[in-house]
Amino acid sequence: MALLRERRDAVEIVTFNRPEALNALNRQTFDELEAAIDEIERDEAVGAIVFTGAGTKSFVAGADINQFVDLDMWTSGAFAERTLRIFRRIEECLKPSVVAVNGFCLGGGVEFSLSCDIRIASENARFGQPEVNLGIIPGWGGTQRLQRLVGPGWARQIILTGDMIDAQTALRIGLVNEVMPQANLLDRAVQIAQRMGGRARRAVALSKQAILRGAEMPLPEGLKYETAMWQLAFETEDRKEGVAAFLEKRDPNFKGK
Ligand code: COA
Repeated sequence: MALLRERRDAVEIVTFNRPEALNALNRQTFDELEAAIDEIERDEAVGAIVFTGAGTKSFVAGADINQFVDLDMWTSGAFAERTLRIFRRIEECLKPSVVAVNGFCLGGGVEFSLSCDIRIASENARFGQPEVNLGIIPGWGGTQRLQRLVGPGWARQIILTGDMIDAQTALRIGLVNEVMPQANLLDRAVQIAQRMGGRARRAVALSKQAILRGAEMPLPEGLKYETAMWQLAFETEDRKEGVAAFLEKRDPNFKGK
């Protein structure tokens, strides 16, 4: 199994599990990841997802480099298209995701994490886009999503040098939201996921869509999109419950409807 799955309350924990290759992503990982997303999206018991890596050394050390030996211009394109489609599904997933980066996070590991909502890291985490050391470039969203998150200056430094940055630098540039001891990392990721999963789920999903789509639009269109999502929120049962609970000075009992 290239992926391990575990449920903690309403949080699905998905662990990249190829420790012998520092959890590098191979075809089997992608097959299992696609199947996992299918199931998680449909499962009403899941409110949020946590991704992490097996062991304490590595989150994901990138694509499995063995796969690059036989690729050419045509097959590399098909490979990138499939990976981008899977990452996009995670980015668009109505359920929010947290990545617990527990060590090396390189190449496709960074690109995967950029498709998720929130990144936190252990103190030993190292981030990099080392593709230029292999004579290739980041091809799973790295040249596009990284600069949108940390700005073009740091994106250029990380991608053009291929050098790694440490967890504190990742924190400073906004690549991760929090850094903590390895021993507390997963619990903290689950805690953040539980906070999101415990809110009015449709409101969380609509907020996520507004942020995601808005970032891909000019501001006036983004604001219109926000209005459309805000209107949809007023159609939910949880809106009635949330407002009533506040006015009655009690905790809301959300149904995710
Ligand atoms: N693809 C395939 N195998 C990988 C891998 C990858 N991306 N990253 C690590 N591995 C394998 C190593 O080949 C090694 O296997 P072996 O024990 O059979 O020799 C094992 O994982 C352990 O890695 P190793 O290199 O011995 O660990 P290290 O602590 O010396 O170095 C790294 C760690 C992360 C610096 C180093 O493994 C590395 O540079 N990996 C490649 C990262 C990369 O370029 N990723 C982007 C791909 S686009």
